[in-house]
Amino acid sequence: MLDLPYTFELNAPGFVPTRYDNHIKRTLTSMKGQYHDISAYEAMLAEGDALLYEVYELARPHESGEVLHGISIVHPGKVGDEYYMTKGHFHTVLETAEIYVCLAGQGVMVMETPEGDWAVEALTPGRVLYVPPRWAHRSVNTGAADLITFFAYPGHAGHDYGTIEQQGFRKLMVERDGLPEIVDNPRWGKGG
Ligand code: F6R
Ligand code: ZN
Repeated sequence: MLDLPYTFELNAPGFVPTRYDNHIKRTLTSMKGQYHDISAYEAMLAEGDALLYEVYELARPHESGEVLHGISIVHPGKVGDEYYMTKGHFHTVLETAEIYVCLAGQGVMVMETPEGDWAVEALTPGRVLYVPPRWAHRSVNTGAADLITFFAYPGHAGHDYGTIEQQGFRKLMVERDGLPEIVDNPRWGKGG
């Protein structure tokens, strides 16, 4: 099959790509065990399986040489005092990086390495974030509107969700006195 160059537009305010192949929706149930306030999580789930974030992907072969890309939209909200966030993951091939460009909203990327480093970088419109190889990454919406980012990463990267599912990230983003704050994850290092 001959591959032809293609284009698409990302138009404000929604930034849904004018062309995409997959639309993934993640709801509260897919985040079971990730929010530190379990009773707030259960109470919220009893009210319905809220939509937390969405991803629009352009389908490309999962091969080195390709660049997988799309748009991630984390909606605003909290479970207890913890902001809506993505599941987060390491890439299966650890030595693969990722680039994010923030298009709208206010948030952070929470990151960590298997070696014990951690980092939290602000995502604001126009800001580019380079996530180097080895860094697990999770987008967190700390604002009142959608947090929208464009992402691109190597085709052979793959996703390891299991490691994060076991104990989460080292750091959580919670609201304290109306402002986002980085706190230690009490579950981290306790063996899941
Ligand atoms: C791909 C990547 C993003 C995320 C998206 C949703 O490697 O980092 O496209 O997949 O922001 O987050 P997850 O995949 O953690 O549910
Ligand atoms: Zn990734």
